[in-house]
Amino acid sequence: MCGICGAIGNENQISTVVAGLKKLDYRGYDSSGVAYLQTPQNQLCVQKSVGSVKNLQKKLEKNAFSNVVIGHTRWATHGNVCEKNAHPHVSSSGRFAIVHNGIVENFESLKQRMSCDFYSDTDTEVFVNLIENQTGNTLQKLQKASTLIKGSFAVALLEVGIDKIFLAKRSSPLMVAFDHRGCVAASDISAFAGRFDCCWILNDNEFAVLEKDKVTFFDQKLKKISIKPIKIDEYDFAEENLQEDSFMLKEIKEQPVVLRNTYFKYFAEIQNLDWEKLKKFHAFHFVACGTAYHSCLMGARFLKQFCKKNATCDIASEFRYDNNIFVKNCLYIFVSQSGETADTIACANLVKQKGLPTMCVTNVPYCTLNNLADYVLPTFAGKEIAVASTKAYTAQVFTLLVFALRLANLDCQEILKKFVLNLQTTQDLDSVFKQIEKFKKIFFVGREQDFVTALEGALKLKEIAYIGCIGIAAGELKHGTLALVDDETLIVAISTQKSLKEKMESNMLEIKARGGKILLVSQFKHDIDVDFLIKLPDFEEFLMPIVSIIPLQHLALHFCQSLGYNPDKPRNLAKSVTVE
Ligand code: F6R
Repeated sequence: MCGICGAIGNENQISTVVAGLKKLDYRGYDSSGVAYLQTPQNQLCVQKSVGSVKNLQKKLEKNAFSNVVIGHTRWATHGNVCEKNAHPHVSSSGRFAIVHNGIVENFESLKQRMSCDFYSDTDTEVFVNLIENQTGNTLQKLQKASTLIKGSFAVALLEVGIDKIFLAKRSSPLMVAFDHRGCVAASDISAFAGRFDCCWILNDNEFAVLEKDKVTFFDQKLKKISIKPIKIDEYDFAEENLQEDSFMLKEIKEQPVVLRNTYFKYFAEIQNLDWEKLKKFHAFHFVACGTAYHSCLMGARFLKQFCKKNATCDIASEFRYDNNIFVKNCLYIFVSQSGETADTIACANLVKQKGLPTMCVTNVPYCTLNNLADYVLPTFAGKEIAVASTKAYTAQVFTLLVFALRLANLDCQEILKKFVLNLQTTQDLDSVFKQIEKFKKIFFVGREQDFVTALEGALKLKEIAYIGCIGIAAGELKHGTLALVDDETLIVAISTQKSLKEKMESNMLEIKARGGKILLVSQFKHDIDVDFLIKLPDFEEFLMPIVSIIPLQHLALHFCQSLGYNPDKPRNLAKSVTVE
């Protein structure tokens, strides 16, 4: 993960980079740092701090001035969270400073062949020393070092005495924007917040040199190239005003609006897709990570249910190393909120190398996956800031539902419209949550579509409340997990499918017989006594995965806040997982 930012211009660029890092801190907030060539002495200064960019800002001298600055916000991969491991890293002679997003996979073997001293545990310090050891000018050194690196990188490099920033990229995102005030480079477009009309996105193995008044792009052989600019117009920078007590709550509450936007924009958007071609695919294979994988499970269900097509799913980190049987006539669908998840991108590349068709479902415009895929299906969730995905998930599920319905030629527009106009997210659940907040052992169970909701509900609770819970298929309980059930166990039972209501009742009786307490989440009245109940509003069954996840998002948020944690920035996680 990690976010990098660099700026060069006639004015003081320290505040530009600090502001950019604040926008990028969703990519990692373990530590942050900047390196700059102090004007006028041209001396390399580095400042780092553990924790958020605000901590760094407090440490920076008020009168520090520099025209050439690089910065970094870190999600720790190599080496624990401490100042020593925070970026930027400086080469042993003190001549070069680098910020890096990605992983140098062969850093140990490279390190063993180097004779200099190392001060951190990071792979990045190896990278910067490798650059220093090369011959040629700065760009040539960077290019030569890049060819020796196995792994992924987006780097910004400074050299003492040179008023330029050097960029290199492979498998981690990197883009540049410039105007009369100078040039800015960043891991993503949000760092450009409002200042620029367009930006230039580097492709893999490309380089760039930033000067005060121009940017020059190079290919892997350092031949000058031109890159087409991308217009920055639709991206919404404005929604960062927080009126709720967390971004997660704000985003949970935004879901009806998101689904309305999706409904009204989607039908226009999909006109451009080649439906006749899409209908000819015999099979669909979904690939994603985390919450997006859960949307895939839903998407595959919809395709099987409505289109009677073979649809399967894989977790990206598994798919990329599996002995996959690639089949012709299958559309490979990659779902990702960020469009930058390293494992998902690697899988998309793998499928492309086989010459097979790809589609991506992404929420961030201009992301790497959109550039790769043959078909792009955008979700219209707007910027999701909280690390735990909520509105992006329901937007993905809804988009995949509408996709399947359209592919099956089913006209459900009126049903969908009624749904998006009537969905609420503000049920008063506090009294239920207060009664269950004592539980520390929690299982989420359901069947079929409710099993997927169980997986997603459990993931939300784990990631923000740090409770070791699981989601499990209700029928699977008796094959092992029931051994864990006792009177201190809470089972969240999701039951939204009429045909499976009685099966769920049997499962709940098995749980009760072992003393487990049940929180039933359902629109139906069930014929057994449960300990706690969340009554869902009643919509068509295929819409219930969206309805039923909302109280589970609130549940996770309640547990998180009752334990005193920050839901927006859970420990050990980052919003965009750009490393393997
Ligand atoms: C969980 C969560 C993660 C992401 C996963 C994939 O709330 O946010 O599990 O879903 O890291 O991220 P994207 O969708 O950006 O590929």
